Amino acid sequence: MSLRAEGISITYESADGRRKRAVSDVDITIATGEFVSVIGPSGCGKSTLLHCVGGMLAPTAGRVTLDGAEVREPDPARAAFVFQDYSLYPWKSVLDNAAIGLRFAGVDRRTRRERAMRQLELVGLAEVAHSYPSELSGGMQQRVAVARALTMEPDILLMDEPFGALDEQSRRRLGVEMSRILTAAGKTVVMVTHSLDEAVYWADRVLVLSRGPGRVIQDIRVEGPRPRTLDFMTTPAFDAQRVRLFTLLEHEYDEAERTADRPAAEEPPGAGTKLAKDAAASGGPR
Ligand SMILES: Nc1ncnc2c1ncn2[C@@H]1O[C@H](COP(=O)(O)OP(=O)(O)OP(=O)(O)O)[C@@H](O)[C@H]1O
Ligand SMILES: [Mg+2]
Repeated sequence: MSLRAEGISITYESADGRRKRAVSDVDITIATGEFVSVIGPSGCGKSTLLHCVGGMLAPTAGRVTLDGAEVREPDPARAAFVFQDYSLYPWKSVLDNAAIGLRFAGVDRRTRRERAMRQLELVGLAEVAHSYPSELSGGMQQRVAVARALTMEPDILLMDEPFGALDEQSRRRLGVEMSRILTAAGKTVVMVTHSLDEAVYWADRVLVLSRGPGRVIQDIRVEGPRPRTLDFMTTPAFDAQRVRLFTLLEHEYDEAERTADRPAAEEPPGAGTKLAKDAAASGGPR
């Protein structure tokens, strides 16, 4: 399923009526099966943009479409979220956690358990299906969160720093595995990450956002077939891309510091955007 964001600007309005633009004039087209990572300085609007793409937040201007149809609300059967903090229910088994979105969708218990079990097998967690999340390592819990999103059989997976809570080595190992799974499943993926390694390693394209309010300042193609193996990280091409991203980000941070003393860019009062829905698109507790 192809995804388009056209002329997206997002302005938040605080309780006292002050307006702050978080995302500015973003145009993105993502083809079916493409893996796109999004990087940018902290606070530049990455999560805001992802929420908007997933229908959880209405843009102040512009529109998001999936295969031409406008996205107006979260629909986990089309675009499911994976969040950094897993958002698992501690009192439910791994299997019930993976099946929770289907439960909200009204799917019968047997079917939802079957479908969830298939995804748990895919991410290598079938043997802990009846454990509680607290009995699992962070990496395993993250895989439950991915299985939960995949159980909805979405066309698109939206991931916001999905491996941020893991140590570097676990992150890499999980990255290899996830890259394989998602490539095999032919999913379209948009992943926000702070890791340049991750951004390049996984993706067909890397979008670089400017300091806030975020604009797309570079759209970089990463050559080389997916899924990738860890060897890809030792190639000169990988290194060159990584350095390029690092330089771009450094520049944005420098600019942010240089302009930090100036008054924040505010907009006149008016109708800012608000969280359209706080419902978790993946069905998790948020
Ligand atoms: N609900 C909200 N109300 C008002 N302002 C918000 C809200 N959510 C985010 N912002 C502001 O919008 C800007 C973008 O925030 P966002 O969380 O999208 O950034 P980010 O790029 O995901 O940052 P990080 O890398 O730290 O996760 C920030 O200045 C933030 O303070
Ligand atoms: Mg964020």
